[in-house]
Amino acid sequence: MSETKKSDAAVPAQAPAPAEEREVLLKVEGLQKHFPIRKGVLQRQVGAVKAVDGIDFEVRKGETLGVVGESGCGKSTMGRVITRLQDPTGGSIHFEGKDITRLNTAGMRPLRRDIQMIFQDPYGSLNPRHTIGSIVSAPFRLQGVEPQGGVKKEVQRLLELVGLSPEHYNRYPHEFSGGQRQRIGIARALALKPKLVVADEPVSALDVSIQAQVVNLMDDLQEELGLTYVIIAHDLSVVRHVSDRIAVMYLGKIVELADRTSLYEAPMHPYTKALMSAVPVPDPKRRGAKSERILLRGDVPSPIAPPPGCRFHTRCWKATEVCRTVEPPLLELRPGQRVACHHPENFEDQQPQDTVLLTAAKEAAELVADEVLAESAQTSAAVAAEVLPQTGKVTKDASKEPAAEAPETDAEGSETDAEASVDAPAEGDEK
Ligand SMILES: Nc1ncnc2c1ncn2[C@@H]1O[C@H](COP(=O)(O)OP(=O)(O)O)[C@@H](O)[C@H]1O
Ligand code: SF4
Ligand SMILES: [Mg+2]
Repeated sequence: MSETKKSDAAVPAQAPAPAEEREVLLKVEGLQKHFPIRKGVLQRQVGAVKAVDGIDFEVRKGETLGVVGESGCGKSTMGRVITRLQDPTGGSIHFEGKDITRLNTAGMRPLRRDIQMIFQDPYGSLNPRHTIGSIVSAPFRLQGVEPQGGVKKEVQRLLELVGLSPEHYNRYPHEFSGGQRQRIGIARALALKPKLVVADEPVSALDVSIQAQVVNLMDDLQEELGLTYVIIAHDLSVVRHVSDRIAVMYLGKIVELADRTSLYEAPMHPYTKALMSAVPVPDPKRRGAKSERILLRGDVPSPIAPPPGCRFHTRCWKATEVCRTVEPPLLELRPGQRVACHHPENFEDQQPQDTVLLTAAKEAAELVADEVLAESAQTSAAVAAEVLPQTGKVTKDASKEPAAEAPETDAEGSETDAEASVDAPAEGDEK
């Protein structure tokens, strides 16, 4: 992912209106998706998987909202619910100002043209027995649409649009590589000229070398066709260059939502910071530079019984008593930057009286020099994808004690080793 599509630097001369001034296309409020857990002969409900547990955000016309978080935090469920492939348990979804929360299949049919989804698995999402022509033209058949010039011509135009050959029309999915299959999936999603495209980890299954090509293709198509995207990824490096704003999810909640620059330059939620420090330094000149990463211990807790208070407190190196008992609301601490944390980074402490770290916090995270990680990682991309869930395996560098060892300093939000470590990767990508 070395190519940058959206410049981090100054706004180009003919920039579209700033994100906050554009019209809202999708508005989600208090969205919940709980999957019931049933037991016994009577199939009584004994609990629920709280996959999405009360999230609010909006997506503006023409923007790309990136959604990131570790596996299992509810990203795919969120994607399926906002496209109404699944029914929400609570909350509301408005599309172009219209309440679509409870629309049935018939009510959703006209909207199926406007809202499309691209799936993670380019192998599983294309029927192997159908030709490419049949796959890409399926939306026309389903919606009873006859494009100008006929279906075949339009499908061939779409294939060209996504960088394939019109001659691929009669070929079968097995004849294509993963990257080409994902292009076919994109062509199918774009057939009906949708307004909103929700892409669920569109490049996770692809080789690292192909990932940038597909993401860049999506970015080009957005400009050409005026699309609005929600791009889901578990890895910040994928959404980093193409997102206008980024939502960070943890256990069914949004913990931070900010424009890309703010998020990268001054992340405020400790989880965002840890996710960012797992992103490899893309600049080869900096790769040898000494930097450290924050490694979170343990896995994401179960969404069946999420931890009380702040859901991240079992893994957060800044957690204090208030974090264990009071759920932090998602507040706009800076213009355009919403954060749910009692002791945010890069900002004044919201609970300065509460400075005693929980025992768990002292063991929650560790700082590891990059060289230690380099030994066990073949490629920097592999690190980004895997480092978080595997943190327990990495040796601790005793000379670099985590910020958790200095409770007072930490609670006051001053510079710590941890902060320095995250800044390094962020800077490495500036040009
Ligand atoms: N149909 C389902 N029934 C029960 N639990 C589900 C279902 N779909 C997802 N889940 C659970 O919801 C949680 C979030 O899953 P998912 O949305 O796939 O997360 P992500 O995409 O972030 O990896 C997981 O614990 C998963 O096991
Ligand atoms: S400091 Fe507290 S509120 Fe903030 S993320 Fe950590 S545990 Fe949650
Ligand atoms: Mg998923």
